[in-house]
Amino acid sequence: MRERQSVRAFLDKPVPLDTIDKILEAARFAPSGVNTQPWQVAIVGPLHREKISTAIIDAKNNGIEENPDYHYYPEEWVEPFKNRRKACGLALYSALNIKKDETEKRKVQWYRNYYFFYAPIALIFYLDARLCKGSWMDMGMFIQNVMLAARFYHLETCPQAALAEYPDIVRKHLNLPQSMHIVCGMAIGYADWTHPVNQYRTHREPVSSFTVQYD
Ligand SMILES: Cc1cc2nc3c(=O)[nH]c(=O)nc-3n(C[C@H](O)[C@H](O)[C@H](O)COP(=O)(O)O)c2cc1C
Repeated sequence: MRERQSVRAFLDKPVPLDTIDKILEAARFAPSGVNTQPWQVAIVGPLHREKISTAIIDAKNNGIEENPDYHYYPEEWVEPFKNRRKACGLALYSALNIKKDETEKRKVQWYRNYYFFYAPIALIFYLDARLCKGSWMDMGMFIQNVMLAARFYHLETCPQAALAEYPDIVRKHLNLPQSMHIVCGMAIGYADWTHPVNQYRTHREPVSSFTVQYD
């Protein structure tokens, strides 16, 4: 848990599908309310990844509005989250030596999201739209299991809400019905530790800042 970090640059080294299978084999032991096991995963190789990436970039360039199946973030940011979000962006762009006013460079970096940071394998997590918030919690636990299990096989990951911005595009290219809600994507591969984007760690608040103890 301490060693996992979001990795945004990968080696050009294939990931055996058998390893992805093993990761998912382990991750499926996540708990879920009344054992609903709501998680669904698309394992996306280069052909479909390319189609999804191109379609999303096209949509962006044509000014098509995002239409996510759910709101990941609040429309209006309040403290202390606002500042944490700011620090998160600052850490990323500082690692890449991108200044505040270099909007084009920031955009290029952000758009790497839509290419799954050029990872050899991409995952898309989705679930039945008839399920409720509880199942989204279950999905979160499953996703964390995937990220931790990946590390057992020396693979690194980046969970990606960016891939849920245009769910219709994702559904179209993965041939998924409208009744499935796209939760997020995930880049997965062997980390390029020499890349500056992988050379910073995000901060965490101390335990005392989020706990209250009662007798
Ligand atoms: C569900 C989820 C979605 C995320 N979406 C993105 C994303 O779209 N792009 C990105 O670069 N990072 C994304 N992140 C990574 C977060 O920025 C990262 O987890 C956070 O800054 C903490 O850093 P760490 O993962 O390195 O510990 C996401 C994380 C989670 C849990």
